[in-house]
Amino acid sequence: MKILITGGAGFIGSATAKKLMDRGDKVILVDNFNDYYDPKLKYDRIKKFLKGYKFTLYKVDIRDEKKMEAIFKRERPDKVIHLAAMAGVRYSLENPKLYADVNIMGSLNLLELARKYKIKNFVFASSSSVYGNNKKTPFSESDSVDTPISPYAASKKADELLAHVWSHIYGLKITALRFFTVYGPWGRPDMALFLFTDAITKGKPINVFNRGKMSRNFTYIDDIVSGIITVLDANLPYGIMNIGGDREETLMRYIEVLEKNLGKIAKKNLLPMQLGDVPTTVADIRKLKKLGWKPTTRIDEGIGKFVEWYKEYYKK
Ligand SMILES: NC(=O)c1ccc[n+]([C@@H]2O[C@H](COP(=O)([O-])OP(=O)(O)OC[C@H]3O[C@@H](n4cnc5c(N)ncnc54)[C@H](O)[C@@H]3O)[C@@H](O)[C@H]2O)c1
Repeated sequence: MKILITGGAGFIGSATAKKLMDRGDKVILVDNFNDYYDPKLKYDRIKKFLKGYKFTLYKVDIRDEKKMEAIFKRERPDKVIHLAAMAGVRYSLENPKLYADVNIMGSLNLLELARKYKIKNFVFASSSSVYGNNKKTPFSESDSVDTPISPYAASKKADELLAHVWSHIYGLKITALRFFTVYGPWGRPDMALFLFTDAITKGKPINVFNRGKMSRNFTYIDDIVSGIITVLDANLPYGIMNIGGDREETLMRYIEVLEKNLGKIAKKNLLPMQLGDVPTTVADIRKLKKLGWKPTTRIDEGIGKFVEWYKEYYKK
């Protein structure tokens, strides 16, 4: 199979590419290497993390219709994993138009190309943030998600709606995966685990929002990748699926496990809740489990692997 991955230099995209190539699939990566966070990490994922692998890489913006079409025309991928997006919740409050442009118009380009080039399965990244401040937990795919609380969340919900249209009208096979807080080696520098590790290592205080009264189904990168590939292989008609760890963990325990792994206690700034953020994202993952997938890495192991990578990469 030839799989085109957008956001291929990203955290989840590069890890997915590696796993697909390990099993013999051909991979085409598209990424614009933007500077939302240090692009060096994106280039290093390509040069170091994917060292020794053979793949084709295009430095192209998914909003560029002509260049994207040229890629589809030349490469003729069988399937698409669409992960390129502006991903941070907080940054979306400052740059709502950019989020609408990349996440909605960019995704629309991909859907159109998937239709035109008869893509056999289109799997794309939605987010647990679409559940907003929903009170009923765990969050289930059948719950109403009509009240997002950030431009980022609204853009992902819009993607789900557009994807339904393209599936309904053109018969495309599409699955939207709602990712729940992904972490692990080569992770994003704007996310809590990275920020905390960086600050604790440097002896700086960490910002603990909502005074630590938060909980998450943290999801280890390998579990996300195996879930994406399960769905990629399943070729389902339109559907939405949660993909998350199988345990609700509090933010304070997450920090404790990190402190244990770093051998240092964090100085904590206990702060109020941030605008756009949600206190709890807990996943009902029964739907994806029915396809035979299950998460296997708990935070004790996963945070250890992250810290190992962080120390090696930054030579701390
Ligand atoms: N990491 C998480 O916890 C999480 C949670 C929920 C949803 N998601 C979603 O999963 C997907 C992947 O996230 P990630 O954590 O790997 O983030 P990431 O930022 O590491 O990866 C996204 C990649 O997309 C690229 N990109 C952004 N805009 C682009 C554009 N216009 N054209 C081409 N490439 C572009 C970026 O350069 C980046 O390499 C995103 O859609 C994100 O919204 C992630």
